[in-house]
Amino acid sequence: MTDLFSGRLAILGLGYIGLPTAAALATRGIEVIGVDINPDIVAAVSQGKVPFIEPDLAVAVSGAVAMGRLSASSETPEADAYIIAVPTPFNGDHTANLSYVQAAAEQLAPRLKPGSIVILESTSPPGTTEQVSRWIGALRPDLKMPHDTDGIAEIYVAHCPERVLPGRIMIEIITNDRVVGGVTPRCAQRAASIYRVFAQGEILLTDAASAEMAKLVENAYRDVNIAFANELSMISESLHLDVWEVIRLANRHPRVEILKPGPGVGGHCIPVDPWFIIAAAPTQSRLLRIAREVNDDKPHHVAKQVIAKASRFHSPTVACLGLTFKANVDDIRESPAIEVVELIAKGLPDTEILVVDPYADRVPQALAAYSNLRMERTVEAVERADIVVLLVEHDQFKALGRTRLGGKVVYDTRGAWN
Ligand SMILES: NC(=O)c1ccc[n+]([C@@H]2O[C@H](COP(=O)([O-])OP(=O)(O)OC[C@H]3O[C@@H](n4cnc5c(N)ncnc54)[C@H](O)[C@@H]3O)[C@@H](O)[C@H]2O)c1
Repeated sequence: MTDLFSGRLAILGLGYIGLPTAAALATRGIEVIGVDINPDIVAAVSQGKVPFIEPDLAVAVSGAVAMGRLSASSETPEADAYIIAVPTPFNGDHTANLSYVQAAAEQLAPRLKPGSIVILESTSPPGTTEQVSRWIGALRPDLKMPHDTDGIAEIYVAHCPERVLPGRIMIEIITNDRVVGGVTPRCAQRAASIYRVFAQGEILLTDAASAEMAKLVENAYRDVNIAFANELSMISESLHLDVWEVIRLANRHPRVEILKPGPGVGGHCIPVDPWFIIAAAPTQSRLLRIAREVNDDKPHHVAKQVIAKASRFHSPTVACLGLTFKANVDDIRESPAIEVVELIAKGLPDTEILVVDPYADRVPQALAAYSNLRMERTVEAVERADIVVLLVEHDQFKALGRTRLGGKVVYDTRGAWN
């Protein structure tokens, strides 16, 4: 018989990962308590509301709250299982900042009882899940933790990384294959019983460190491939070639699949996760480090090109289309578009810069200091602009007719109008 979890479950961190996971479990009958340190998020979820935009999530959350299956709290409750989905940013030196994970482990430790399951979903360097077990063990010497028992542990600790795509989270959380890595094989089996409640993809059991590394490798693989495309775009520009045409032709080779270049790499994952590998094996990670450097440099390259184009005008207006880190979402974390806009605003202090994003209603904090910059609506910004810079391929921008762009200098970093 397939082992299916059927107890009470708490999720620590109600962000882009924690809240969809909470909704997926609660809508399938599990009693879920979402815990967050941000009181605004707790208040919103308690009323069945979602504090960010993600298709289909609002319906799932409001339904689960109305059915009494999902609630939110600032306090960590007693539960049979805990999922940790808190941020894992990097420090100034690019090492992982595990303070949120440690805080979450310390919050739930006093509530554990024999048989409890603890799953770390936050993307983490190899060894972190075992470290979670150690942090808990230090606070609960009465419990047999899996990292230091030869016999049967009383607490099951595992890592289950998340690989959903923002904008498709509610589909992919169900359909993606899941990797579940236990501190012991029994830990992996117990953790998998939770994902079987809603996951339709295959559940692959392994050890915790392999699961941690597999997640990091997925994003490092993407980063290296995007760096190749970004480098190609800069090479093509210097040779006065159209990179989109070059890639289109090269991709007709049966074993070549070059990704699309862009203004840089953004979001919470791809620009961050490769650093966790680089920090763990600095001497061996040469390619990963260079890929990071290429992608981090791309916003500077884009801004330089725009500033050079502006020098042809006496008093130009520049329209920058897009602020989010990818199309059709409202997430601006680590967004290269914001960095490009900031570099342009700094480099052209006397130039009017109009910023457009249908998913952002105000100037982000990082740009607030620039008085030459303001938010505008798409059509008005394009009409007023001499130079139009496309930074994010939101559907609304892709739909702009060619006639509106006629007579403008257009710099399309995404190839959306090709
Ligand atoms: N967003 C993605 O697409 C994505 C994809 C794969 C993996 N991940 C990983 O998942 C993890 C979570 O990412 P996210 O995008 O959901 O982050 P997020 O910032 O959207 O949400 C994290 C939430 O955790 C809360 N929090 C912080 N400390 C807490 C604590 N001690 N107790 C309770 N709540 C706490 C924060 O207030 C916030 O609401 C990260 O490790 C990230 O790398 C994210």
